[in-house]
Amino acid sequence: MERRRLGPVVGLGTWNTFGGDAGEATAVVDAALDAGYGLVDSSPMYRGAEASLAAALARRRDEAEVATKIWTSSVDEGHEQFRRQIKWFGHVEIEQVHNLVGWREHLAWLEAERADGRIGKLGVTHYAASAFDELAVALRTGRFETLQLPLNPHERECERDLLPLAAELGIAVIVMRPLGEGALVRRSPPRAELDRLGVESWPEALLKWALSDERVDVVIPATRNPAHARANARAGEPPWFGNEERRLVEKLAA
Ligand SMILES: NC(=O)c1ccc[n+]([C@@H]2O[C@H](COP(=O)([O-])OP(=O)(O)OC[C@H]3O[C@@H](n4cnc5c(N)ncnc54)[C@H](OP(=O)(O)O)[C@@H]3O)[C@@H](O)[C@H]2O)c1
Repeated sequence: MERRRLGPVVGLGTWNTFGGDAGEATAVVDAALDAGYGLVDSSPMYRGAEASLAAALARRRDEAEVATKIWTSSVDEGHEQFRRQIKWFGHVEIEQVHNLVGWREHLAWLEAERADGRIGKLGVTHYAASAFDELAVALRTGRFETLQLPLNPHERECERDLLPLAAELGIAVIVMRPLGEGALVRRSPPRAELDRLGVESWPEALLKWALSDERVDVVIPATRNPAHARANARAGEPPWFGNEERRLVEKLAA
């Protein structure tokens, strides 16, 4: 059964990468868009990344969806974060409540912005499995259309309840930390194993492992390296892994 809502798509994460350096952002974003990325993900938390991303996207805004976040418990500050995002991006395709902060308080005004057409979809994010029960409560309101959470061979807690729930409710899934914040790619398996998987690189295998779960729509690996952005793009191309290839990736990552 095909359950995807947005993908399969490779997107660009921006935590801990170019921050406020617009030149570095432009090099990475150009490489990513040239390679076919369909989405960028940011947040007011990411030390200037939204502003540098906006500068990098200026000439190419229609080539990628912007997923960003509201990250504050204050509704007034939330409005201010959104006002800046509209100035930078014109429109926010996916507006997410970052780490569920103040999600009940933000929902009504975010829905009003969506009704006015300045937001495409509303989503929630959290990085910690301890918050997954609350993520489920938020999803069950029926008021969110996207969910962002961690998934990689070392972090699979979402497979138990949240991925089935997202599939049941028709909610698109965006995967953060697909490379384990870089920890999973420090050592690559031998070339022969990558050949068995039909991939060029180990990061590509890990990204494809996540995208090959039909409940997953988008993976958002972060990088400050244009060559890495290009290499990661290959994961967005079929063929997808079957059970055998997925088990092999899990074994190689163990
Ligand atoms: N609560 C939340 O909402 C939340 C929390 C966490 C993350 N996120 C989002 O998810 C995104 C991804 O998660 P993440 O940044 O924590 O971790 P990640 O994407 O799993 O890993 C990023 C690391 O992988 C390295 N990398 C990327 N491509 C590579 C390649 N081809 N070869 C070798 N190394 C490579 C990067 O280093 P180089 O720069 O050297 O390539 C970077 O150190 C974030 O940027 C953010 O947008 C959201």
